[in-house]
Amino acid sequence: MNNILVVKNDKIATVTINRPKKLNALNKETIQELHKAFKSLNEDAYIKAIILTGSGQKAFVAGADISEFADFDVSQGSDLAKNGQAILFDYIENLNTPVIAAVNGFALGGGLELAMACHFRVASDNAKMGLPEVSLGVIPGYGGTQRLPQLVGKGKAMEMIMTAGMLNAQDAKNYGLVNYTVTQEELLPLCEKLATKISRNSSTAINAAIQAVNANFDTSKDGYATEIKQFGNCFGSDDFIEGTTAFLEKRKPNFI
Ligand code: COA
Repeated sequence: MNNILVVKNDKIATVTINRPKKLNALNKETIQELHKAFKSLNEDAYIKAIILTGSGQKAFVAGADISEFADFDVSQGSDLAKNGQAILFDYIENLNTPVIAAVNGFALGGGLELAMACHFRVASDNAKMGLPEVSLGVIPGYGGTQRLPQLVGKGKAMEMIMTAGMLNAQDAKNYGLVNYTVTQEELLPLCEKLATKISRNSSTAINAAIQAVNANFDTSKDGYATEIKQFGNCFGSDDFIEGTTAFLEKRKPNFI
């Protein structure tokens, strides 16, 4: 891998986008490497949670790599969004394994869209977040027009997209875009703490919850029907037997 680093520490994996000189901008190769990394981590049953961050002190991801699409035509533009959504953004959102975005600096355009595709976000207090695409003559194409209103509401999303402005970390927290803001030094330790907490729970049930929550935002699905189906499926899992047995035996569950 030329553009990302993957480190496994017990049940937690950390994926770091590693193009600091380009503020970790997402070029085609990086998107493909991220897809491969997430696919392989998702298939690793031992890994229970993934943290996604950017290298350096300055940026999570400063957007899609503008130099790669500046000369695209209509059909190339549409393919860029379609392929990116399929292999990375929708892919992460629907992954079985929870993904936490550790937003350590600029998260702009495709960078904020990537953070929003993760299951939740934690930011360092130097982070700046925005969707500046209209200042370039395009719109967000990696799900930003859909996920930003889901997270912050339509009015705030419209303002952010139309002004191309940036939120600081505190405003992002007030908007509900990130769950916590901490210092840069505290960012990864807090994400690791949250990931460890997640790793102690049933990964089967967590996956079922991801699918059920996501169904609420997918117009092709009935969220309540999805919840009923996923809830029912849990009763057929080893984790359900272990979780309920452990409770009745007054001990901590030992999920595989
Ligand atoms: N695509 C490609 N390259 C990018 C990039 C992007 N989205 N964001 C930053 N870079 C590159 C810069 O071109 C520069 O490369 P160079 O040193 O070879 O010239 C390098 O990263 C450092 O960026 P620079 O602009 O010099 O840093 P800065 O501190 O002055 O400004 C930003 C930081 C984030 C405000 C600025 O880089 C920026 O506006 N980036 C684009 C953000 C954007 O519009 N993203 C949405 C894309 S759809």
